[in-house]
Amino acid sequence: MQTPRFLQRHLADAQHERDAAGAALRETPARIAPKWFYDRLGSKLFEAITELPEYYPTRTEAAVFAQHGSAIAAAIGAVGTLVDLGAGNCAKAARLFPLLEPRRYVAVDVSVEFLRESLRRIAQEHPRIETIGLGIDFSATLDLPAELIAGRPIFFYPGSSIGNFTPAEALAFLQRVHERAGGGGLLIGVDLHKPAARLEPAYDDALGVTAAFNLNALRHLNAMIGTDFVPGDWRHVARFDTEASRIEMHLEARHAVLVQWPQGRRAFRAGERILTEYSYKYRPEQFAALLSEAGFSTPTCWTDPAGDFAVYWAPG
Ligand code: AVI
Repeated sequence: MQTPRFLQRHLADAQHERDAAGAALRETPARIAPKWFYDRLGSKLFEAITELPEYYPTRTEAAVFAQHGSAIAAAIGAVGTLVDLGAGNCAKAARLFPLLEPRRYVAVDVSVEFLRESLRRIAQEHPRIETIGLGIDFSATLDLPAELIAGRPIFFYPGSSIGNFTPAEALAFLQRVHERAGGGGLLIGVDLHKPAARLEPAYDDALGVTAAFNLNALRHLNAMIGTDFVPGDWRHVARFDTEASRIEMHLEARHAVLVQWPQGRRAFRAGERILTEYSYKYRPEQFAALLSEAGFSTPTCWTDPAGDFAVYWAPG
């Protein structure tokens, strides 16, 4: 068995994070960046969301891989390095190992601490694969050591996380991946446009798990920047903007609220909202166009029978 290697490139600058979060709270409309969802509890709440009957993306993507796995592997061909962007517990990539048989697996996440346990397990279960954990914040830059992606790198970005970028940010992200994917390519999961009646329950479920996930960002901010948010003052709102083709998640003040933190304060009127997340839903031809604008060659696309979710293979 090979022992996994760990490289931490990104070190969060706590002061910078506090300043950016404070500035976003003072904007109109106020914003809380989606990264504040994911403290320990938030990550568990997201896992619970993926089990909800209303939240179809995770299980539908898994079904696409289960049904079309061999065709996907045949289209991709030999894999040198599999670069898993936002690897988390590495489970999605590990399910593809028998099909793709990568020589090297590079699990990328903002902190290698998230990756340690999962990568040790991967190394035990797949002793022939060289495993590396890399801690970088790939949402803004893609600072990958060249020797790690030498050969034929296949980038893997599942879960429709691309939808949490605006289309302009998504294009910039795809361009960065394309610059590094020479000879290889990108395997990416994308949630597709559908009626509001289907989408809104997926982001506002009957059990209130997504509401808790959204409200938990307030607790996380309280702990990290010293705000005095009281979650009970806020209501979860999730609406599909059909024209923009995006779910918008907000927190709405139930009554007038004054929020204070060491470097600032913000008064909210009753009904005023804080924007916490966009989740863009693409039409298949629109996403294919975005991939070619980023420089990728003609992609191949697989979907579930209902056309809810798409997996694209885009050669570099
Ligand atoms: C992580 N991301 C793809 C999820 C989504 O569907 O946009 C985050 C999420 N927000 C609410 N539910 C799930």
